[in-house]
Amino acid sequence: MTSSSEQVAADTALFLDRLEQEELAIVRRAYAKHVLANANINDPRVGAAFAAVRREDFLGPGPWPMPRWSGPYVPTPSDDPVYLYQDTLVGIVPERHLNNGQPSLHALLISAATPRSSEHVVQIGAGVGYYTAILVHMVGKNGRVTAVEFDSGLAGRLAANFAGQPHVRSLRGDGAEIEFDPADVIYVNAGATRPADIWLDRLKDGGRLILPLTSDKGFGENPENIPIQRRGAVFRIERHGVEYLAKWISAVAIFPCEGARDIESERALAAAFEKGGWERVTRLYRSGDLPDAQCWLKGPDWALAYA
Ligand SMILES: C[S@@+](CC[C@H](N)C(=O)[O-])C[C@H]1O[C@@H](n2cnc3c(N)ncnc32)[C@H](O)[C@@H]1O
Repeated sequence: MTSSSEQVAADTALFLDRLEQEELAIVRRAYAKHVLANANINDPRVGAAFAAVRREDFLGPGPWPMPRWSGPYVPTPSDDPVYLYQDTLVGIVPERHLNNGQPSLHALLISAATPRSSEHVVQIGAGVGYYTAILVHMVGKNGRVTAVEFDSGLAGRLAANFAGQPHVRSLRGDGAEIEFDPADVIYVNAGATRPADIWLDRLKDGGRLILPLTSDKGFGENPENIPIQRRGAVFRIERHGVEYLAKWISAVAIFPCEGARDIESERALAAAFEKGGWERVTRLYRSGDLPDAQCWLKGPDWALAYA
């Protein structure tokens, strides 16, 4: 039997917890507005997802390591989740420079991918699943998300974070090779030098692939100090039958994608960045047999072209 003083203490704890959650819900709404403003987008569905999903549920117990370009990671002053609601990276494996990505970059890319209610989204490089949860929110209870993570430690945390959620399938493996069902959206969260065949094969008609292409130069440096040539670019690829429309969305500096990098494509990518003109790309071809003048980038058996 509980004494009345124990009951009072339990009620007080419950009340304070509820108050903290209510405060955090307000903080999250403000955070979502800042994230959308920084991404320069007006997408209420993305905003609602950022306002709803609790970042602290995915990143493990605080204090959390925050990367600083001027030096080593700095822990948040305490484990108060309020520190997570900034438009910043958070370290998930700091010793490998592996971070929970910048909210405004993901807001921009997710908005470009337009995950709709009931769709199937495949995320490559899911980490511990914060952006997986944003995608889950956007596809709703009739949609599903397949989240793939290469690193076994992170894949274990990812699986634990979505345990008991039947519409989320978490897989440990190489997202450039692993089997998955045809997808409306393939959201790649690591830097490739080329699109993996399976991403293009498994994109449904009308499906959207978000593809970060990065050169080997510049990773780990402050992205604000390095030009796009030494970082990378994110393209949105939309499939229509055997055609793939392509559009440049953003510059990016991101952790490399194992399995989707080859030396020949890296060279072609570095040359294309030097040349400039990524913003004029309109098509992706699954062949390298095109006139040079038509191509921004000509890989061994693929190309990004102006027409
Ligand atoms: C920049 S981190 C982003 C993690 C997560 N999206 C986030 O923001 O928290 C990139 C992730 O991609 C994973 N990764 C790299 N290559 C991969 C591959 N071929 N298949 C699946 N995951 C991969 C890395 O292990 C890492 O967790």
